[in-house]
Amino acid sequence: PKNVGILAMEIYFPPTCIQQEVLEAHDGASKGKYTIGLGQDCMAFCDQVEDVISMSMTAVTSLLEKYGVDPKQIGRLEVGSETVLDKSKSIKTFLMPIFEKHGNTDIEGVDSTNACYGGTAALLNCVNWVESNSWDGRYGLVVCTDSAVYAEGPARPTGGAAAIAMLIGPNAPIVFESKLRASHMAHVYDFYKPNLASEYPVVDGKLSQTCYLMALDSCYKSFCSKYEKLEGKQFSVADADYFVFHSPYNKLVQKSFSRLLFNDFSRNASSIDDAAKEKLVPFSSLTIDESYQSRDLEKASQQVAKVFYDTKVQPSTLIPKQVGNMYTASIYAAFASLLHNKNSTLAGQRVILFSYGSGLSATMFSLRLNEGQHPFSLSNIKTVMNVSEKLKARIEFPPEKFVETMKLMEHRYGAKDFVTSKDCSLLAPGTYYLTEVDSMYRRFYSKK
Ligand code: ACO
Repeated sequence: PKNVGILAMEIYFPPTCIQQEVLEAHDGASKGKYTIGLGQDCMAFCDQVEDVISMSMTAVTSLLEKYGVDPKQIGRLEVGSETVLDKSKSIKTFLMPIFEKHGNTDIEGVDSTNACYGGTAALLNCVNWVESNSWDGRYGLVVCTDSAVYAEGPARPTGGAAAIAMLIGPNAPIVFESKLRASHMAHVYDFYKPNLASEYPVVDGKLSQTCYLMALDSCYKSFCSKYEKLEGKQFSVADADYFVFHSPYNKLVQKSFSRLLFNDFSRNASSIDDAAKEKLVPFSSLTIDESYQSRDLEKASQQVAKVFYDTKVQPSTLIPKQVGNMYTASIYAAFASLLHNKNSTLAGQRVILFSYGSGLSATMFSLRLNEGQHPFSLSNIKTVMNVSEKLKARIEFPPEKFVETMKLMEHRYGAKDFVTSKDCSLLAPGTYYLTEVDSMYRRFYSKK
């Protein structure tokens, strides 16, 4: 098979959200801390009738319907998620009724978990499957679904929720440059979920930021050296049209992209002109550890990166700023923002993605875009995702109601024997929602 990649995408996020400006005031944080300091505008969250399973059901059925894909044509289905509702039964199995109904139970794949990286693991598995000897000619389907919630405190504004479904196959408008892939994996305790009775992670915020940047450096270095071996010339940020990052919050994306330019400077790459060189030279003697701590370097490289950031990164920041960290879905929501914002101009362009999951695992990989053919075209993906309308149709909750919802969800996490409000009035037609968890912990869903 040729040109294996993403044929189609659908995104779902809850209509329930809270403005960061409002949350900031409610939390007693200094004005601008969440909006400018973290760079976030708004945050989506699951109300009591939604969870990662219902969101994934909504995204999958909507994708199949809107692109006219026969459920019998799916040969592999993989889910990436770090939201644990069951320690054994995969989210993938909850999606099977959609296919069983059509007589298709011959579908490989289960769930992949490692913080925000599980979706990328699932995606690479599906792409590898289509490119392999075991491929049976059918499509792969990848689902990233997460509800990111934190305990009260500084991490709470970095939550979010969404599910994304991606159809994988040959002759795609979004093609993997499979030789251009570099990973960095290591053992650290930056963000983890050891308390199985709670949905909230244990997080060392500062360490997680540094780990993210170290993983980025490592992936970029080996990405560049692989590129150079393959193409016989140096790689710099000038060689890609767009950079898409896993986005826990926008400020970290800004810092990450600046870090790539500092890497380019250290490697003497062509993206760095004389003016940029002059700004960065004072930092060339820093040790690598010092370079992660230096505020002056951060400022200088951010200045150097500014022009590039506006053209190469900013178009991918829309949904992550509006919806928040969607864990596994976060990087693909950023990519979806790029498809939404730059749609008709993307043919022929190269996009580099950086996926990070705490713990940690990270991969940088490259995509090449072409317009494709209906229904699997860039323009149809934009139409189906309908991002502007979905953002506009949301309902802003006051902070008291948001906090109350978080409390209820804490109480219900891991619980049995309850019925939800079954109130689906805020949900769009076609949305799945949770109605009941019975005395055997079995979960029941309806479709609006
Ligand atoms: N106006 C403007 N900016 C402000 C203001 C203000 N009033 N107040 C603070 N800021 C800035 C700070 O200077 C800082 O920016 P800087 O990093 O450029 O200096 C930023 O806002 C955040 O402020 P901090 O004091 O650093 O925030 P705090 O430590 O309270 O929390 C953190 C931030 C650590 C990101 C926290 O939200 C967290 O732990 N989140 C979860 C972990 C996370 O997302 N890690 C990322 C990778 S791992 C993953 O994806 C889960």
